[in-house]
Amino acid sequence: MTILVTGGAGFIGSNFVLDWLAQGEEPVVTLDKLTYAGNLANLARLQNDPRHTFVRGDICDRPLVARMLATHRVRAVLHFAAESHVDRSIHGPSEFVQTNLVGTFSLLEEVRAHWNELSGARREGFRFLHVSTDEVYGSLQPGEPAFTETRAYSPNSPYSASKAGSDHLVRAYYHTYGLPVLTSNCSNNYGPMQFPEKLIPLMILNALEQKPLPVYGDGGNVRDWLHVGDHCEALRSVLTHGRPGETYNVGGSAECTNLQVVNTLCELLDRLSPRTSGRYSELIKFVTDRPGHDRRYAIDATKIRRELKWTPRHSFATGLEQTVRWYLENRAWVENIRSGEYQRWIDKNYLAR
Ligand code: NAD
Ligand code: TYD
Repeated sequence: MTILVTGGAGFIGSNFVLDWLAQGEEPVVTLDKLTYAGNLANLARLQNDPRHTFVRGDICDRPLVARMLATHRVRAVLHFAAESHVDRSIHGPSEFVQTNLVGTFSLLEEVRAHWNELSGARREGFRFLHVSTDEVYGSLQPGEPAFTETRAYSPNSPYSASKAGSDHLVRAYYHTYGLPVLTSNCSNNYGPMQFPEKLIPLMILNALEQKPLPVYGDGGNVRDWLHVGDHCEALRSVLTHGRPGETYNVGGSAECTNLQVVNTLCELLDRLSPRTSGRYSELIKFVTDRPGHDRRYAIDATKIRRELKWTPRHSFATGLEQTVRWYLENRAWVENIRSGEYQRWIDKNYLAR
């Protein structure tokens, strides 16, 4: 038996694949389109590992997905593939609708056809795990209780709207067709191999190049940070012990304002890689806010903690230090990524701010 991982060359997907194969012997087949965010270097360690097969392709390519499901006798699908960056969804929403909504629909259709062909224990045990986000719930006021699984959806960006739509489709496939789906909605992840368009790696790399650290608005927006390793553990638990049709919120219980995160990163870098003169926090620059910028996200992870006995192992302080060290020690990975496309994105998003 095999698991199929979509988007397994991206940040969370590649951490998941490496983690999965470090913990057991069950093979993985990865399907990834290798967009700007997909990076085979993330999976380089598996190049000669017979337990891993990499297929470059699109989740919207239904014949390809059908072949992969049948050939590899897939018993579970972990669906990470997505366009994942809010700022990019503001500049160009169409890819988000295509991959996140239409792509998830295409995948569900092929998975349903595959599952319909199964019988007995293989049919009973089959799972489709949809990896989603807390952003579908919209924005919290200060002091408001954190998001539980029953919170009404209220997405505010093209990214979160496309993920919300995909969550609804996944839910419908359970209720209408009985497809054994599971959905997880997690908070902001951080850790090794995150593409440096997202807050934490962007700030680390800009700082190391003595470039401005662009904080949107007043820097008071709050995110609830989750280490990617803790997220991978949560997903393994949901896959193994989660109840079909249920959703599970996953969060690190580490609410921080963006300014707190950036200041902590500056302090870590002052210690681990000091500037020749001055401190990194001198590079902080407040820039024009993101349109529709959600003020606060926070996850109430009571359900997954209680039902699946999952608990995060990393504190934000230790996880952040480990992450900074990873970027300091993996300069070749960083250089490999910062191609023309990356530079074009940086110019598009930041020059006019
Ligand atoms: P990422 O952008 O780093 O990786 C996405 C991967 O999907 C890339 O490898 C890309 O090549 C691949 N991909 C994109 N379109 C594809 C397509 N049409 N067909 C096949 N592959 C395609 O994203 P990530 O941060 O690893 O996020 C993974 C999942 O987790 C996403 O579904 C995202 O919505 C969700 N999520 C992420 C976070 C976070 O903080 N990063 C938080 C909550 C939820
Ligand atoms: P991001 O990493 O893009 O994740 P998300 O939008 O999915 O939460 O951004 C995290 C927070 O950091 C968000 O409030 C926006 C803010 N931010 C900045 O202030 N400056 C930046 O350059 C970026 C990329 C993000």
